[in-house]
Amino acid sequence: MKIHLLYILLFTFTTAIFAQNTDESKVGSYVLPELLRAQNGEEINSSEKWNTIRRPEILKLFEDNVYGQVPDSFDKIEFKVLEQNNNALTGKATFKKVAIYVVRNKKIITIQAHLYIPNNVKKPAPVFLTINHRGGETMNPSPDNEFWPVEEVINSGYAMAGFDVKDVAPDHKTQYVNQILTKLYPEHISQPNGMRALGAWGWGAGRVIDYLETDTAVDAKKVIVVGHSRGGKAALWCGAQDQRVAMAVSNESGNSGAKLSRRNFGESVEVITRNFPHWFIPKYAEYANNEHNLPIDQHMLLALLAPRAVYVASAAEDSWADPKGQYLALAAAQPVFGLYDFKPNLPDNMPPDNEQVIHLPLGFHNRDGGHDMNLFDWRQFVKFADEYFKKNNNKK
Ligand code: GCU
Repeated sequence: MKIHLLYILLFTFTTAIFAQNTDESKVGSYVLPELLRAQNGEEINSSEKWNTIRRPEILKLFEDNVYGQVPDSFDKIEFKVLEQNNNALTGKATFKKVAIYVVRNKKIITIQAHLYIPNNVKKPAPVFLTINHRGGETMNPSPDNEFWPVEEVINSGYAMAGFDVKDVAPDHKTQYVNQILTKLYPEHISQPNGMRALGAWGWGAGRVIDYLETDTAVDAKKVIVVGHSRGGKAALWCGAQDQRVAMAVSNESGNSGAKLSRRNFGESVEVITRNFPHWFIPKYAEYANNEHNLPIDQHMLLALLAPRAVYVASAAEDSWADPKGQYLALAAAQPVFGLYDFKPNLPDNMPPDNEQVIHLPLGFHNRDGGHDMNLFDWRQFVKFADEYFKKNNNKK
């Protein structure tokens, strides 16, 4: 009997997963919500109007329909360097493990940040900050570690920082409340648009930036927030809110990240809200099979980064994350960057596999292979960041 039930469950689960469309010819038509028209009908034709009218409106729509709010108040934040090695990577880098203590209403949480800073540079180093959902052990400097290739990044003149999302909100349907939500922001748990896991992970990145602002070896005006997949969704939402983020890198963030939700290809809102309810506010599930009624689409999330840089990476075999839907979202975000005198002019079609397109401040690639973040991806992130920061003269 039990085995029978298990089969039924497995069958329901896999059909739900595989019922997702991955046939380009079956993608229906859709109309994206307008970026440059305010809710009162006013045309948004200047960066000033974008900043004062439309940007706050869109942020609020994402808060109230998708991710929930991200609180920015707490009573105290303190940092303690737990470990330091000035001779890491055979002298190329300084390693620091930093405890970040955040206190609110006499309750405390601790985030442990890992940080590698290049020794061989003239100026404070720009820094890649990874929102890491794959566990603290993946932030090791081993040369085989393509997910977090410290040496490669250090050699290019960048610092590498990261933290484990478990420290702020475990990636679990019920236990996600166990860190900052229960301890620091309990009132959010019952609020319909209170913070949920993706917002909490971005909040964690914000606290690491608080630390980076105190470390003179890094350039906290050049923080690049990076995330892979669910981490990429969090990186974009974090960059949308926290304007200290100079650049956001979304690696294969897919649905509810960089992919257009209305494009019926790959993972849907129905599947993601059923499998990962803790990432979003409950209201988001009302758009399951009803994406056309969403008041936002994900191009608007990318637009919230303007005029800062956005890099979207995808992988050709990762149809679940819909590479084309991610490219189209980036292209659809362009008019907002245009308000800031950038003229990104991305080609209509996604570039061939492994070819990077850069139209500052936007960039994209679609790597061959499957769902992962690897050395190829990181090399493109560095190339793009080099272009954006024009930092080549920062090498000794
Ligand atoms: C699942 C989920 C995706 C997510 C991915 C990941 O596949 O459906 O939305 O991006 O996990 O985080 O690896």
